[in-house]
Amino acid sequence: MRYILFMSNILVTGGAGFMGSWLVDELIDRGENVINVDNLSGGYLRNVNKKCTFIKGDLRDTKLVNKITKNIDIIYHLAAYAAEGQSVFSPIEINEINLRPMNNLLVAAVNNNVEKFVFASSMAVYGDQKPPFDEELSPNPEDPYGAAKAYCEKVLEIFKKAHRLRYTIIRPHNVYGPRQNIADPYRNVLGIWMNRIMKNKPPIIYGEGKQIRAFSYVEDTIKAFANAGFYRKSDSEIINLGSPKYTSINEACELVLKTFDSKLKPIHVPPRLQEVKFAYSTFKKSETLLDYKEEHDLEEGLVLMANWAKKLGPQKSTYTLPLEIKRNAPEVWLRKKM
Ligand SMILES: NC(=O)c1ccc[n+]([C@@H]2O[C@H](COP(=O)([O-])OP(=O)(O)OC[C@H]3O[C@@H](n4cnc5c(N)ncnc54)[C@H](O)[C@@H]3O)[C@@H](O)[C@H]2O)c1
Repeated sequence: MRYILFMSNILVTGGAGFMGSWLVDELIDRGENVINVDNLSGGYLRNVNKKCTFIKGDLRDTKLVNKITKNIDIIYHLAAYAAEGQSVFSPIEINEINLRPMNNLLVAAVNNNVEKFVFASSMAVYGDQKPPFDEELSPNPEDPYGAAKAYCEKVLEIFKKAHRLRYTIIRPHNVYGPRQNIADPYRNVLGIWMNRIMKNKPPIIYGEGKQIRAFSYVEDTIKAFANAGFYRKSDSEIINLGSPKYTSINEACELVLKTFDSKLKPIHVPPRLQEVKFAYSTFKKSETLLDYKEEHDLEEGLVLMANWAKKLGPQKSTYTLPLEIKRNAPEVWLRKKM
C-alpha cells in the first residue's frame, strides 16, 4: 500500500493537541520521522511525544511555515481552534486561526514539493441535513467553523487541479478520549461533563438532550487517519471518519455519570444557537479506503477517558478565546455561576 520509502519526513500540525498527539505517537510507532508544530494555544507540552521534533510556533506565521515544510513528504494538518458552537459568537478570531494557517501550508506545500496533504476537516461542513451524512452531500454548514472547513476543502480541490497537490480530506466526528482538552468550556462535551463532575457540579445539557451524535474513540480513528498519508487509494477523496454507532446526548451523559459513579443529575439549559440536532455520518468509505475499524464502543472508551481524567484531576476552566458577540450566548459562557 505504501508509496513512500521507509522513514518519511512528516509534518503534523497541532501535535500537542488531542488528535494530533495521538497521530504523532502512531506515526512514530510506525517508524516515521515526525516534526510537530503547535503554538500550545489549545494543546499541552505533556502531550508531546519525546521522539518527535517539536517546534513551538504559530502557523499564522508565513515565513515559519515555509521553513518547516522544506524536505517534508507528508503534511497532516490538524491545528485549529475546534469550537464549533462558539464560532457563531467569535468568528473573527476563530476564522483567523482556522484559515490563515491553511493558506500558509498550502502555498508552502506547493513551493516545497510536498508529496501529500492530509486535512482534518469536520462533519460540521454538512450542517443541518438529513443524517446519516454521506460524502456525496454538498456542504451546507450552519456555523463559521464549518464554513471555514468547507473553504479549506474547496481550496484543496482547486490546488490539486492548479498545482497537482495530492490530498485526502478527512471529516472526523465527535472524537473523544484521553488527552482531550477538558478545561475549555466552549468545546468537547464529554470532557466538559467530566471536568464538572470531578468538581461535583452537574453536567449541563443544551436543550432537551435529544441531539444525536456518534462519539468516536480517538485510538480507532487515528489509525485510519494515519493511513491517509500512505494509501494512494485515498487520494482526492473526502472521507467521513468515526463510529458507526450513534447515541443521544442524554444517553451519553448518563454513561459519563455512571463511569464516575456519580449521583449528580444533569441540568438542562436553553438550546444553543445554530446547533445541529441530528449529526452522524456514513462510514463505509473509511472502512474501504482507510481500513477504519471500531475497536472501542462508547462505554469502553469512556472508561479509558475517565481513568485518564481522574489521574489528571479537575481542571480550572480556561476560556481560550473571547466572545466577540455576547447577545444570546449561553449563560455559562458569560461566566455566570452554574
Ligand atoms: N476532536 C473532534 O471531535 C474533531 C471532530 C472533527 C474535526 N476535528 C478537527 O481535528 C483537528 C484536531 O482537533 P482536536 O480535537 O485534536 O483539537 P485540539 O484543540 O486538541 O488540537 C488543536 C491543536 O492546534 C493547536 N493550534 C491551534 N492554532 C494554532 C496555530 N495557529 N499554530 C499552531 N498550532 C495551533 C492547538 O494548540 C492545539 O494543540 C482540528 O482541525 C479539528 O477541527 C476534531
